This record gives sequence, structure tokens and C-alpha cells, in this order.
Amino acid sequence: MTRRTDHGTGATGTADPTGTAAAIECTDLAYRFGETRAVDGVDFTVEPGEVFGLLGPNGAGKTTAIRAITTLLPVPAGMIRVFGHDVARERMPVRRLLGYVPQQLSADGSLTGRENVGLFAKVYDVPRRERRPRVDEALAAVGLTDAADRLVSTYSGGMVRRLELAQALVSAPRLLILDEPTIGLDPIARTSVWARLTDVRRATGMTVLVTTHYMDEADQYCDRVALMHLGRIRALGTPAQLKEELRELRRHTGAAASGTATLEDVFRHHAGSGLDDDHAGGGFRDVRSTRRTASRLG
Ligand SMILES: Nc1ncnc2c1ncn2[C@@H]1O[C@H](COP(=O)(O)OP(=O)(O)O)[C@@H](O)[C@H]1O
Ligand SMILES: [Mg+2]
Repeated sequence: MTRRTDHGTGATGTADPTGTAAAIECTDLAYRFGETRAVDGVDFTVEPGEVFGLLGPNGAGKTTAIRAITTLLPVPAGMIRVFGHDVARERMPVRRLLGYVPQQLSADGSLTGRENVGLFAKVYDVPRRERRPRVDEALAAVGLTDAADRLVSTYSGGMVRRLELAQALVSAPRLLILDEPTIGLDPIARTSVWARLTDVRRATGMTVLVTTHYMDEADQYCDRVALMHLGRIRALGTPAQLKEELRELRRHTGAAASGTATLEDVFRHHAGSGLDDDHAGGGFRDVRSTRRTASRLG
């Protein structure tokens, strides 16, 4: 999208008058469901303009972390700040800065693409007279102009994901949060979702936090990644850094496979198991919810 909103004033209030605050700052972020420590004390900072990836297998705690950041789960004050705003104390200011694409389907199949995006424009308080152009712009940004007036039930899985991206973009968020945006999509649709995301980010400079369990995507599209396993961050850095560290380590230990390293190798090194191993975490609940999303998009 080419339109820029003056994000420096208005809804952002006074928490970050100089605009130097981190986009997201998590300090000992923790959340439990009963006895399950879904997120078990993680620290990370996302800089403005960054594409930051939260990676890990099903059950790692990615969605829980994201729901806490988006104000959807209650956390104590001081744990999470979004552009300087405390998530616990300033829910509405934080929400106004966010666009969120949940893992579950958020588009309505019985409406057209345009109607779906229009609905989000309304919910997110886009001024009435700006709605039309903003909806058009969001649809164009994700390449759905031609399909805008078709029912979403006729869309492919990749088109639905791009529509959801448009829904989240219509409020011109400073921070876009996407939970498994490419889950269940074929490789071509996955590439197309990332291409649109990359274009929008380039045009607007928005910050992006994305979760995925596809390590190859993270490697290609994220500026920095945090590898999560069983509620904790096991490694954090640029994909290049993490891979180089592992190569270096292998050189020192004289390991056989010292030539190349992938992010998947880095994950295996830090988590002690591969993403798809049985003991990588994630029980039936996680698999079931993943499948549900995937089959809805299929
Ligand atoms: N609503 C819930 N009730 C109980 N346990 C949950 C709930 N949501 C997530 N969990 C558990 O918390 C852990 C982390 O889940 P989640 O954050 O969804 O991981 P991810 O998004 O990385 O797959 C898992 O063990 C999961 O079963
Ligand atoms: Mg999840």
C-alpha cells in the first residue's frame, strides 16, 4: 500500500513521544493454562520495521505468546509493551496499533471479499468517508481486486489467506501480527502470501511479527527469528547468524556434517529434536487445531 498514515500522533498517545520505543518488548513473558506452562518466561524485543519470526513446532507456545501480545490473554503489567504502551494497562491504544491475522479462519465465506474487508474497516473505526478507498487499496495490495466481488466461499486457500491479510491491513496498523499465515497452503500459494506481505512491508515500513513452523520460509523472509520449544526461546538471531554459529560449533567439534546448516538443523541442535519428531511437543489438541485450520483453507 502506498498511503501512509501519520502514526506519530493521535491514537498512539504519549507513551512514545519520540517514536524510539521498540515495536514489541517482552520481559519474562509467561502464561499458563492450569498446569501447562504454555509460555515459560521468554524475553525478546522486536524493532520497528523488522520482520520477526516466532518459530517452533505445534505446542511450542507461539499462539499463546501472540494472544498475550494482542491483548487477548490477560497478563500482568510490565510484561509486554507495544510501541511503549503497556499491554495490560493500555489495551485500547495497543489494539489501535495492531493488525492481527489469527490462525483460525477469520473471513466469512458467505460474503464477498470486499464485504469482508469493509466489515473490518468498520470494526476498526476507519472513518466512513475513507472506507471505500482504503478497502480498495487493501484489496489491491494483496492482489484481489479482480476477485473482490466474488463470494469468499469460491476462493482458493491462498486467496482466503491474502484476503485475511487485507482485512488486517485496512486499519493501517503499525504492527501486523500473523499466526501461521501459510499453514496448509501449497508452495505456490505460500510464496504468494509472503510476496504480498513483503511488498506491503516495504511500502509502509510496518513491523511484522509472524509465527510459522516452516523453517525454510522463516529463513527466507524473516530479519530475525526466535526458535521456541516447550514455552521457551532456545535461540534468537538472524537466520544467517544462527546457521553460522552452528557451522562454527560443528567445525570445533569436528562433526561430520559441517558443510551446510539449515534453520531446521539449528532448531534440532537447540531443542534436541526435529520439528516433526514425536517428542517435539504438541499433543492431540495442537494437531487437531492445526488440521482444522488447514482443512478449512484447503
Ligand atoms: N486454551 C487452552 N487451554 C489449555 N491448554 C492450552 C490452550 N491453548 C494452548 N494450550 C496449550 O499450551 C501449549 C502451547 O500452545 P500454543 O500456544 O497453541 O502453541 P503453538 O501455537 O506453538 O502451537 C500447548 O501445550 C497447548 O496444548
Ligand atoms: Mg499456534
